Amino acid sequence: MSVDSPRDAIAIAITGASGALYATRTVAALLERGCHIELIVTEYGRRLLRDELGDGAAVEKLSDYLAWRYGEGVRRGTFTLHSNRDLGARIASGSQDCRAMVVVPCSMKTLAGIAHGLSRTLTERAADVMLKERRTLVIVPRETPMSLPQLRNMVLCAEAGAMLMPAMPAFYQMPKTLDDLADFMAGKILSALGFPHDLYPRWGS
Ligand SMILES: Cc1cc2nc3c(=O)[nH]c(=O)nc-3n(C[C@H](O)[C@H](O)[C@H](O)COP(=O)(O)O)c2cc1C
Repeated sequence: MSVDSPRDAIAIAITGASGALYATRTVAALLERGCHIELIVTEYGRRLLRDELGDGAAVEKLSDYLAWRYGEGVRRGTFTLHSNRDLGARIASGSQDCRAMVVVPCSMKTLAGIAHGLSRTLTERAADVMLKERRTLVIVPRETPMSLPQLRNMVLCAEAGAMLMPAMPAFYQMPKTLDDLADFMAGKILSALGFPHDLYPRWGS
């Protein structure tokens, strides 16, 4: 299905931090809403998908994996897979039409690259474009414990305008499965992007 307008395009980068399930749930939820996703999966992100979710989730099979895991509704959306080395991809330019980008999960290495505006990879460059164009950039870092440089890199990103959303699912909704925890983080991301959802019950409901 085609997207309603170019503004329905969202960039997603999956990097090599633990939490591949957060990424697949987020991608699936956006596809279910008919979005077009400009997808980047770093080399270690590719490894994470296989290590944490199995060979069926390898990036080459991602479309079928998402349909199997989350239902055929994911076919309402589309995605384009970019090489992280392709600095000539359209999302490397400020003239592209993605309204937002999510880095989920975000490794400490990629966090550092974004914090310091290095633009060495497509992930870093596309995130830099979001910051310079004052568009929405959601970063979902995952590491524990954290060093002072890592904490400072989060502050640098926040000061530059990114939303820092550490992979810290809540437990008040009484999760029973890993999918419940992933739903919580994906729901937080969708809220940040302005999409209504019922991925987790609201506090007090
Ligand atoms: C199984 C596995 C789990 C990892 N988990 C994390 C993590 O949670 N956080 C992190 O910052 N790095 C983690 N790493 C290390 C990163 O993958 C590594 O720093 C890599 O260079 C990140 O590159 P990328 O940001 O281009 O994906 C993990 C690596 C592996 C193999």
